[in-house]
Amino acid sequence: MSEAEYDLVVVANRLPVDISISDEGELSWTRSPGGLVTALAPVMQGAAGAWVGWSGAPDLAPDPFDVDDVHLVPVALSESDIELYYEGFANDTLWPLYHDVIEKPTYHRLWWDAYRQVNRRFAEAAAAQAAPGAIVWVHDYQLQLVPALLRELRPDLRIGFFNHIPFPALEIFAQLPWRSQVVHGLLGADLIGFQRTSDAANFVRSVRRFTDLTTRGEVITMTEEDGGRRHVRAAAFPISIDSGHFDDLARSPAVAKRALEIREEVGSPDVLLLGVDRLDYTKGIRHRIKAFGELLQDGRLTVPKVTLIQVASPSRENVGAYQQLREDVELLVGRINGEYGHLGCQPIRYLHHSYPPEEMAALYLAADVMLVTALRDGMNLVAKEYVAARSDERGVLVLSEFTGAADELAGSVFVNPHDIDGMKDRIVSAVEMDYREQRKRMRRLRRRVLADDVEKWSQSFLAVLGAVPQNPVHR
Ligand code: G6P
Repeated sequence: MSEAEYDLVVVANRLPVDISISDEGELSWTRSPGGLVTALAPVMQGAAGAWVGWSGAPDLAPDPFDVDDVHLVPVALSESDIELYYEGFANDTLWPLYHDVIEKPTYHRLWWDAYRQVNRRFAEAAAAQAAPGAIVWVHDYQLQLVPALLRELRPDLRIGFFNHIPFPALEIFAQLPWRSQVVHGLLGADLIGFQRTSDAANFVRSVRRFTDLTTRGEVITMTEEDGGRRHVRAAAFPISIDSGHFDDLARSPAVAKRALEIREEVGSPDVLLLGVDRLDYTKGIRHRIKAFGELLQDGRLTVPKVTLIQVASPSRENVGAYQQLREDVELLVGRINGEYGHLGCQPIRYLHHSYPPEEMAALYLAADVMLVTALRDGMNLVAKEYVAARSDERGVLVLSEFTGAADELAGSVFVNPHDIDGMKDRIVSAVEMDYREQRKRMRRLRRRVLADDVEKWSQSFLAVLGAVPQNPVHR
């Protein structure tokens, strides 16, 4: 297919594959495990779909190529773009700001300039791929200026935006020196999706505060240059996982066998606790490990009866706050293991790795208690994966109130991770919960997670976006 012929164009910071080039110049790629790929693969293959994104490596932008009927369009990021736009503005300004300033956001004008430039590059690449009247779906905080830039280039398009992370309260968002530019960037979309209704409401409050536009409920009315009116809708579309696939995977004999092996490998404890996170300061890993360490100190949990596996997958390793977090977590784990471990038995098995879905499913199946203690999280898909994996209707999900998932997953044991004593009590109650109570809660959780899967999520977003009246095609 030639350019400008795609009816559905996804724009995200990353492509759904990791690309590498050998010394001989041969291009190869592997599919990335991310949820967005599974969410969009069916709709993309049905339509003529293109995906615009970064390859994941500096200056690596091979010609567009097709994978499973999806046209992949790499956007180049130089070393300096990665430093200023990705590690800087996206992950050291917006990420901490949008997660309630758990870490202090850094404001650098140079980073903002890079963010604008890179957003323009993504908008131009998308404009070149989209067929007349096409739907373009832009994803996440790295690309908030793309909707307005794209509308300028291509007023014929229907543009959607989905924010995968929280949208902060007005008083926090107000810190951003470029707050009104960001709001106007997003308002280039016809539909702006958020994880929770509170995120959508926060955004609408910021629109009222930082623009002169009129809002009514979730609808914002824009006056265009030609005097015409356009409506933008800001609403919640909570994302999910491919629940059916995860359920099947966890039911496979190989995964069940591996789950038993895992329990044996960690010394067959009576109770196995599990944490699975990107190594990110939003995830509350320090708080969780502190609570676990105190429970050992108090003697309310003891080794070798209880073991915690903590998977902390490497993430954003050039950003200072992530380096500090790694130091803190590893120091804490080392102290607790030194204090309460014996030869051949450690209270915490800490793994700084990423694993394929099969191994994840086995870990979930092996774990009696899953600890999701994020300080702030747009959704948290690990919580949903754990539930989808437990067709045996066993296991307890300990879930932070500060995740998007908490809005949906009644049946969890809810915690406030800032309240260490409260969290300790909840962890003990999860460890001691009898099977009848576990089953009652897990059934309730599974009904929800299996009903609302990620395909339903993408279809519901695209159905609303597709119903937006098409502008006359003029280019
Ligand atoms: C979060 C964000 C995604 C991001 C992912 C991994 O889930 O919402 O946009 O891709 O983290 O982070 P990374 O910086 O490695 O892309």
